Amino acid sequence: MFQNLVLIGFMGSGKSSVGRLLASLTGFGFVDTDALVAQAAGLSIPEIFREYGEEHFRDRESDALRSLLGRRGLVVATGGGIVLREENRKLLREIGAVVWLDARMDVLFERVKHSKRPLLQTDEPRRTVEALYRSREALYAGASDLRVDSSALSHKQAAREVLARLRKGK
Ligand code: S3P
Repeated sequence: MFQNLVLIGFMGSGKSSVGRLLASLTGFGFVDTDALVAQAAGLSIPEIFREYGEEHFRDRESDALRSLLGRRGLVVATGGGIVLREENRKLLREIGAVVWLDARMDVLFERVKHSKRPLLQTDEPRRTVEALYRSREALYAGASDLRVDSSALSHKQAAREVLARLRKGK
């Protein structure tokens, strides 16, 4: 069917939680590119942003993705900004079937409004979420094989929906 299953999407779309459930439903292993980056650096994601800046984080994020080439049987959850680099968008496709886990803006904002994610530490986080989402929407669409809207779904329902849609091929 597919070598690996890759989840992309905005912060708060549920990639890690749904990804873990997908791993247990399929018997695949689970990896999260943010966790790979944090582990390799020995620092949390906010610490990496604070100490070294976003570009450095993006370089390490690309390294993490590249390290998955040739692996099989994985569900891969990615950071929300993974689609920003063209190199990454190509890598995603090489790694496996790519699913865009999406949700309505108000749902995404509710899920992330109290989070410590570095890009959301602004005076107007709602505007930040909207602007970031708008600037990335087309990239998620272009990089994915299918889109699943998780706005009204539990994590479990979203995982089942992803599998059903992959089986149908749309
Ligand atoms: C980011 C999303 C985060 C993390 C970093 C940057 C982004 O991952 O990679 O804070 O640019 O959208 P999640 O999507 O898992 O929150």
